[in-house]
Amino acid sequence: MEKRWWHDSVVYQIYPRSFCDSNGDGVGDLQGIISKLDYLESLGIDVIWLSPVYQSPMDDNGYDISDYQAIAPEFGSMDDMRELLDKAKQRGIRIVMDLVVNHTSDEHPWFVEAKSNPDSEYRDFYIWRNANEDGSVPSDIDSIFGGSAWQWDEENQQYFFHLFSKRQPDLNWENSALHDKVFDMMNWWIDQGIGGFRLDVIDLIGKEIDKGITGNGERLHPLLKKMNQATFGDKDLLTVGETWGATPEIAKLYSNPERNELSMVFQFEHITLTWQNGDKWQPQPLDLIEFKQVLTKWQVELKDQGWNSLFWNNHDLPRVVSKYGCDKQHRVKSAKMLATTLHMMKGTPYIYQGEEIGMTNVAFDTIEQYKDIETLNFYKVKTESGVSHEHMLKAIHENGRDNARTPMHWDDSRNAGFTDGDPWIEINPNYPQINVAAALDDKHSIFYHYQQLVALRKAHPVIVYGEFIPLLESHDKVFAYERKDSQQHIVVISNFSGDEVNIELPEHLVGKPCSTLISNEGEVETLAASMTLTPYHSLAVML
Ligand code: NOJ
Repeated sequence: MEKRWWHDSVVYQIYPRSFCDSNGDGVGDLQGIISKLDYLESLGIDVIWLSPVYQSPMDDNGYDISDYQAIAPEFGSMDDMRELLDKAKQRGIRIVMDLVVNHTSDEHPWFVEAKSNPDSEYRDFYIWRNANEDGSVPSDIDSIFGGSAWQWDEENQQYFFHLFSKRQPDLNWENSALHDKVFDMMNWWIDQGIGGFRLDVIDLIGKEIDKGITGNGERLHPLLKKMNQATFGDKDLLTVGETWGATPEIAKLYSNPERNELSMVFQFEHITLTWQNGDKWQPQPLDLIEFKQVLTKWQVELKDQGWNSLFWNNHDLPRVVSKYGCDKQHRVKSAKMLATTLHMMKGTPYIYQGEEIGMTNVAFDTIEQYKDIETLNFYKVKTESGVSHEHMLKAIHENGRDNARTPMHWDDSRNAGFTDGDPWIEINPNYPQINVAAALDDKHSIFYHYQQLVALRKAHPVIVYGEFIPLLESHDKVFAYERKDSQQHIVVISNFSGDEVNIELPEHLVGKPCSTLISNEGEVETLAASMTLTPYHSLAVML
């Protein structure tokens, strides 16, 4: 496989609203990010994926864009953006922008024009349909944020289509005039010196709604090839698509370098395993055997015809230490175990802000404390359909998106050092114990564990390119695997449980002298036939 710079890179995701507020308005901003670049450099990351900072009415915290070439005033200005690009570059850090082109805001001039003038050239940039003869909605497609995907527009006596909030009308990718506008905008950003794009819900742009197809439509890959050719294809950029419906077969279509589409995609199969029948508001416990099967399948199947992204967290997901680890007495140990398990796999790892200090989920007492549009919409839809308030609050505590969006904990001062003003959302009350200053002061902290993992990836090509071989596949508490190339051989063993467990290692590993690359408890010098693992124990050794 041809080597690319992003193969041994580690990406850090910033959700700007919740990262660091420099001007006391309670909302994180670009100057806040600039002030923390030294911190990020010390973690060792190569790339920042910046969630949207564009002009937006913030119905979905910036994933509803009203001007792709302007910065939202609460985040700063285009000068701040240029300063961020510059100062990040000085530290060897590239900035990947979030590209949200499945939809715009309803305040985007294209939509304003499309709505007010049916003869406008922008009319067909969006998806309009008449009501059915009986007055009902054109089809029964649901919005991902709850309710119908069709919104009645009184002014036009037609419906428009929105897969997210009704303030996020979907763009019509069947119109090639739209392609030109989007590609021009992407090239403008490329000219600013960005490191690439994270493509928001990109698997939806090939939709054929009259056939009831939203994700992975036939038109999708030709569109991505066209985008690639018109924009980033001949540049050395990282592109990562958000593709909820991807299987490994589909992921190869996106990320096989020969196909000239994207560098890699985010797949979510391991995430949705804890959603009963695909419903995040019906959480179910993790089945580790299934989880290992899914991750192993992705590791093995994308072996040499594509590239994996590796992530536990992002701004839409609960905090990993709460989800798969233990956020109480084993918080530090289990966070390190999870980090090792992920970062020793093949692919490009992503760290979500706060993950590197083991930030946890939050459990607000009342629904009024939540800000996320998806959470609030579903709370309404579900409680109106008879689901109890208690059930919903519990599900929100477990899977709601605000778990990831409470502000970053910088220190133990008021508002966790995030803002001098009133934060836009409440701070997790555990910030006096869990914060960056405390992590930097403790050489055994989760932060230094992540720092070590990032450095290991740079030092050992086997972590980047080696073969992935699963171990102990039927063990229901331990996730273990080998990484191997012609010169190096690594074994990773992680106890995903709060119990002490015994494992028997296969013969080919027994008695081999080894050195410990990273561990959350002690070192080993030889792999014995049987080992006892303490709760959440994990280690990676080089044979
Ligand atoms: C996926 C983003 O990650 C999420 O935060 C957003 O709400 C939807 N796409 C809509 O843009």
